[in-house]
Amino acid sequence: MSSNYQVAVFVGSLRKESFNRKIALALADLAPASLKLEILEIGQLPFYNEDDDAGQPPAAWTQFRARVKAADAVLFVTPEYNRSVPAVLKNALDVGSRPYGQSVWDGKPGAVVSVSPGAIGGFGANHHLRQSLVFLNVPALQQPEAYIGNVAKLLDASGKLADEGTRGFLVKFTQAFAAWIEANHQPKP
Ligand SMILES: Cc1cc2nc3c(=O)[nH]c(=O)nc-3n(C[C@H](O)[C@H](O)[C@H](O)COP(=O)(O)O)c2cc1C
Repeated sequence: MSSNYQVAVFVGSLRKESFNRKIALALADLAPASLKLEILEIGQLPFYNEDDDAGQPPAAWTQFRARVKAADAVLFVTPEYNRSVPAVLKNALDVGSRPYGQSVWDGKPGAVVSVSPGAIGGFGANHHLRQSLVFLNVPALQQPEAYIGNVAKLLDASGKLADEGTRGFLVKFTQAFAAWIEANHQPKP
């Protein structure tokens, strides 16, 4: 029998009506019962400055690090900004990665979903993010890849997922992610 896993979800957009947030909420609804997806906010994190880790780090960093550490797995749902990862999400990765030797990302199984109103589905952000995840030792789900393009056409007026094909895909994606977590998760010390 599989266990239950806490999945920390990071949304790479701060916009109130963010498409990415809407897809993240849809993923939380569609995921198998073994996964509990919860969005961890990242917009409140001060920009990473190594000087601030020398003494008492900002409380927002400490709280964020503790919450990531407590999660079994991590899921990134992100737009593409100028063919790369939005600064707010990169900052969250950087905050969690330090102090040196104490990265809270280390070994957590992860997955990436990129979302765009454009046709390419945030491919550039998805793969730039994967580059950081290799270095951070986050084993990232390979298949299925998730590039959600033309997202505005997939949601109804209330922001709910209204496209059956995408719904079916996201169900399969979350099932594959659950199996990935089961296979790769590390017991917490
Ligand atoms: C600074 C900036 C750069 C952007 N660059 C890209 C891009 O490279 N590729 C893309 O598909 N969309 C790009 N967009 C459009 C975003 O995909 C679009 O604003 C999207 O709605 C953002 O996600 P959100 O709805 O979750 O906020 C960019 C938007 C901004 C604000």
